[in-house]
Amino acid sequence: METENSLFGKTAIVTGASSGIGRATAVTLAGAGAAVVIQARRRERLEQVAAEISVDGGKVLAVAGDAGVPADVDLLLERTLAWTAGGGKCDIVVVNAGRGLAGGVLGSDPSQWQDLYQVNVIGAACLMRRAGQVMVKRKSGDIVVIGSVVGRNISPFSGFYGSSKFAVGALAEALRREVCGHGVRVSLVMPGVVVSGFQAVAGYTEENFGTAVAQFGQLLEPQAIADGIQWLLTLPPHVNVSEIMIRPTGQPAP
Ligand SMILES: NC(=O)c1ccc[n+]([C@@H]2O[C@H](COP(=O)([O-])OP(=O)(O)OC[C@H]3O[C@@H](n4cnc5c(N)ncnc54)[C@H](OP(=O)(O)O)[C@@H]3O)[C@@H](O)[C@H]2O)c1
Repeated sequence: METENSLFGKTAIVTGASSGIGRATAVTLAGAGAAVVIQARRRERLEQVAAEISVDGGKVLAVAGDAGVPADVDLLLERTLAWTAGGGKCDIVVVNAGRGLAGGVLGSDPSQWQDLYQVNVIGAACLMRRAGQVMVKRKSGDIVVIGSVVGRNISPFSGFYGSSKFAVGALAEALRREVCGHGVRVSLVMPGVVVSGFQAVAGYTEENFGTAVAQFGQLLEPQAIADGIQWLLTLPPHVNVSEIMIRPTGQPAP
């Protein structure tokens, strides 16, 4: 049923949908009526999310792929446009796939720097570019980019990772300025600490993470970010919340 929080009739791409924030966002947008196209590398986990959405009556297409590989980004767009009734539809793109890395410039593992930038910055920019091209032609659309609070306030605990989120935040604002005159909204969502697969991939442990965040109280679940994304997507088309930070209430910094 169409309500004011409805995304009925829209098609949404969500990358990094096999886990965490991406998974919660895909399920939430599908629950609000959007047809969702989900991407991640782990095909089996992606299919599980797709099955979960289908069982609840949602419309979903899983396209396994690497968000850091430009050819996979192209394929994701092509499959989406071919899938939608009448063709050419891609109303919402959530640029979420990404990974963290514990440590600063001295303390992080440099053998992971390239991989991190490839998905967090290059892949994100490729998807933003492709989505922007399609949406400018249609004169409408939403591009939601997942940054981070450490992409606004750098932290020595995640300095290298934070630099990639500064970059993607700058790209989001640059894109917003390019496309806003064509009816396309761009929103940068900057989460604080969210409990997800992120911590294990980044190499956070009790010692380099758990102790520091223990004082923050209750940490966020991915659903808090998904709810924020649904909120900004369902505002009137002439209202663009171009930046939003969502932290656990007890997180003082970054
Ligand atoms: N958790 C936090 O505290 C936090 C805070 C601020 C910002 N963020 C950002 O939020 C986003 C989502 O993170 P999360 O917390 O939900 O972590 P997560 O649970 O580890 O999920 C990350 C998702 O990204 C996908 N992914 C990673 N690399 C990929 C690649 N090369 N190609 C395609 N998919 C890829 C993963 O899927 P596969 O492994 O199956 O490919 C997974 O679905 C990231 O951009 C992260 O930087 C997280």
